[in-house]
Amino acid sequence: MSEKAILEIDGKKYEFPVKRGTENELAIDINTLRSVTGGIITLDSGFKNTGSCESEITFLDGEKGILRHRGYAIEELTKKACFLEVAYLIIFGELPTKKEFEKFGMDIKKQSLLDEEMKNIIDGFPKVAHPMGILASLTSALTAFNPELVNVSSTEDFYNSVVVLLGKFPVLAAWAHSKTQGTPLNYADNSLNYIENIMQMMFEIPTEEYKMNPIAVKALDELMILHEDHEQNCSTSTVRIAGSSEASLFVSVSAGVSALWGRLHGGANQAVLEMLEDIQKDGGDVEKYIARAKDKNDPFRLMGFGHRVYKNFDPRARIIKKAADDLFEDLGTNDPVLAIAKHLEEVALKDEYFAKRKLYPNVDFYSGIIYRALGFPVEMFTVMFAIGRLPGWIGQWREMRLNKEPIGRPRQLYTGYALRDFKEFGER
Ligand code: CMC
Repeated sequence: MSEKAILEIDGKKYEFPVKRGTENELAIDINTLRSVTGGIITLDSGFKNTGSCESEITFLDGEKGILRHRGYAIEELTKKACFLEVAYLIIFGELPTKKEFEKFGMDIKKQSLLDEEMKNIIDGFPKVAHPMGILASLTSALTAFNPELVNVSSTEDFYNSVVVLLGKFPVLAAWAHSKTQGTPLNYADNSLNYIENIMQMMFEIPTEEYKMNPIAVKALDELMILHEDHEQNCSTSTVRIAGSSEASLFVSVSAGVSALWGRLHGGANQAVLEMLEDIQKDGGDVEKYIARAKDKNDPFRLMGFGHRVYKNFDPRARIIKKAADDLFEDLGTNDPVLAIAKHLEEVALKDEYFAKRKLYPNVDFYSGIIYRALGFPVEMFTVMFAIGRLPGWIGQWREMRLNKEPIGRPRQLYTGYALRDFKEFGER
C-alpha cells in the first residue's frame, strides 16, 4: 500500500507521496508542491521539520540515543576501528579491506607535505588570529595550490581531493596552532599514525623530545571518531549546499569550517570551557549559574547542555565520558575546572528545569575538558572538532554529487514593504 499525505488549501486537496526510510521514519515528499499549487511553499525556519536530502551515511535517533554510520553502531566503531578506517567507511560506504586501508593510508601520507609558499599566507596572519579563521582560509587556499582539483569532474579527481584534504588538513590545523603560540611550524612524521601525528605536530617543540602518551592518543582517536559525522547538522548542510553549486571540495569544506565555528555548533566546546573558567573565577558557585540558565530574563545558557536532535541522551557523550575518566586517571589530573564540570553535571541532571526540557550533557561538554587535559588552548577546541568532522563533510559532499542533487536554493516568504515610491534625500 502506497502511503500518501493530503493537503487541503481553500477546499482544494493535493496529494503527496510519503517516503519511508530504512528505520521506518516517514517523510512527505513535497517536491511538486509549488508546481501543483501554483506557488505555495512551506515555511520552516531552522529546518526543524525539513529533510534536505536522502542519505545513506548516518542514522541517528534522538529519542533513543542511537548513532550509526553506514549501519555500524558508534559504540562498536569507537571500540574496534580507528579514525581513518571510520573515515573510509563514511566516505566510500564500506569498511576498507586491509589492502584498501593500507593504500588509503599511504596516499594520505604522501600528501602530508605542504607547499612552502603556504607559509607566506600564514605569515600574513597576526598572532592574535583565531585558529578557526586561519584554518578556514588555508583550507580555501588549497585550491590555489591544487588548481587541477578546482573542478572535481571524475572519480579520480574526487579521490585525489580526498587524500589531499585528509593529508594536509591536520597540518594546516597544527600550523594554525603554532601561529597563535609563536612556535615553529612542524611537519608530519610519516612513520606515525594519523592521530599520533596530530599530537606530535601540535605539541613538539625543537628544544625537547616529544613523548607520546598512548592513553592520550587513544582518547583523542575515540573523540575524533565520535565527531566524524552527524548527518545534516549546520556545518554539513553548509558543505552540501556550497558543493551543490559545483564548488570544489576544498572550498566547500572551508565553508563548513566557518559554519562549525559558531558557539551554538562546534564552538560550543570552547564556550563550555570559558563558562567553566568563569564559574571558577566567580568562586565556583555552580548553583548560581544553574539559576541563571533557568532565568528567562538572562540570556545565559548552560553551554554543553541540550541538543537539537538528542532529546534523551547523546550517545557520544556517554562514550566520551568514559574516555575522559580513563584519561584523567592516567594523567592524575587534579583540575579544579574538571571538578566544577562534574558538580555542574550532577546538579543539572537532578534539576527539574533540565529534566523537563530533556537537556542532557552533549559531546561538547566532555570534549572541551579532554582537550584541556591534553594541553590544547581553548581556541583550538573547535579546530580539533573540524579535524574530526572532516570525513563526514567529505562523505556528505560526495553523496550530494553522486545523487546529482540540484543546487541548494531555499525559498522565502517575503514580509517587507510592498512597492513604494523612491524618496529623495530631503524627503527621508
Ligand atoms: N541552557 C538552558 N536552557 C536551555 C538550554 C541550555 N543549554 N538549551 C535549551 N534550553 C531551553 C530553552 O530556553 C527552551 O526553553 P523554553 O521551552 O522554556 O523556551 C528549551 O530548552 C528548548 O530549547 P531550544 O533552544 O528550542 O532547543 P533547540 O533544539 O533549538 O537548541 C541547542 C538546541 C543545542 C542550540 C541548545 O540546547 C543550546 O543552545 N545549547 C547550548 C549550546 C551547546 O551546547 N551547543 C552544542 C550542541 S552539540 C554540538 C553540535 O552537534 O553542534
